[in-house]
Amino acid sequence: MIRRGGRLLGLAALLGTSLALSGCTTKMSLFDPAGPVAEMQSSLLRLSMWFAIGIGLFVTVALLFVVFRFREKQGNRSVPKQIHGSTALEITWTLIPIVILAIVAVPTVQTAFATKETKDPNALQVRVVGHQWWFEFQYPELGITTANELVIPFGRDVALTLESADVIHSFNVPRLAGKMDIIPNRKNHMWMKADAVGEFQGQCAEFCGTSHANMLFKVFAVTPAEFDQYVAGLKDGAAEPTDPVAMAGRDLFMGKTVSKANCISCHTIDGTKAQAKVGPNLTNIGSRTTLASGIIENNEAMLKQWVRSPQSIKPGNKMAPHPNLTDEELNAIVTYLQGLK
Ligand code: CUA
Repeated sequence: MIRRGGRLLGLAALLGTSLALSGCTTKMSLFDPAGPVAEMQSSLLRLSMWFAIGIGLFVTVALLFVVFRFREKQGNRSVPKQIHGSTALEITWTLIPIVILAIVAVPTVQTAFATKETKDPNALQVRVVGHQWWFEFQYPELGITTANELVIPFGRDVALTLESADVIHSFNVPRLAGKMDIIPNRKNHMWMKADAVGEFQGQCAEFCGTSHANMLFKVFAVTPAEFDQYVAGLKDGAAEPTDPVAMAGRDLFMGKTVSKANCISCHTIDGTKAQAKVGPNLTNIGSRTTLASGIIENNEAMLKQWVRSPQSIKPGNKMAPHPNLTDEELNAIVTYLQGLK
């Protein structure tokens, strides 16, 4: 009895773990859509799921029926009637799947077209560029660029163009728009719309190398007024720091002082001479909620660790480590970055 209880407990634990590992949370669930595109995908998924459940139940019941009905009975060793090659049965079980697939095919094709391009000519244009291992978000009409945290106004269509800087990635934000691969030398298109203000979790969904699992992003749907403010803030570029520590950090960042930092050879900060495009644009780094493509919280301690030894946070990433910065220099750079809002 105890052994049996232990085994049941083990089974429950295994089930719980596998559900947790499968990412079965509402944070990234297509069953909890928050916009019209995800709504279409969700209803298609539910339709297919009900058919699958129906077929599963039917096959199980039919199998159990046959197993019990035609099991060997004591004293009766005769063979049941053989129906191999029955035309009626062959036609029936060919027709049923054809009908089911035809029923599912119509909304599938409709949804595929409806989710590819928005019909709204006033849609907000966003260019998504997948990098190993972070997302770049450009707003070509607005002339601003950010990384890993996409801000959109709720209630407005967002037309996404997906491109890659290196390998195949996948843009996946289930509660808003499902998933689309990002393929080198190709532009893929999808659109999305958030029905209300909210924060939506996204993640790269195509294996793209060492830190694929660390390639997260967020979409923030804000009010149109907040969005305008956000755009204006980025368009203005970074404000010049006034605090002496932040000023020292800026000089280290820009390479004005003898620097072991060299940040300027990879990053852009709009409104400054830092214009390199290797790593993420840092113009509003201080206002982002996360660092390292969404895997750690954006705070002083984490940012220090990130600048000092990025490999300890995100294996394989292309950011240079800075073991030789003094604590004072590190503090200055981080103070400067945290002030970029
Ligand atoms: Cu990018 Cu996986």
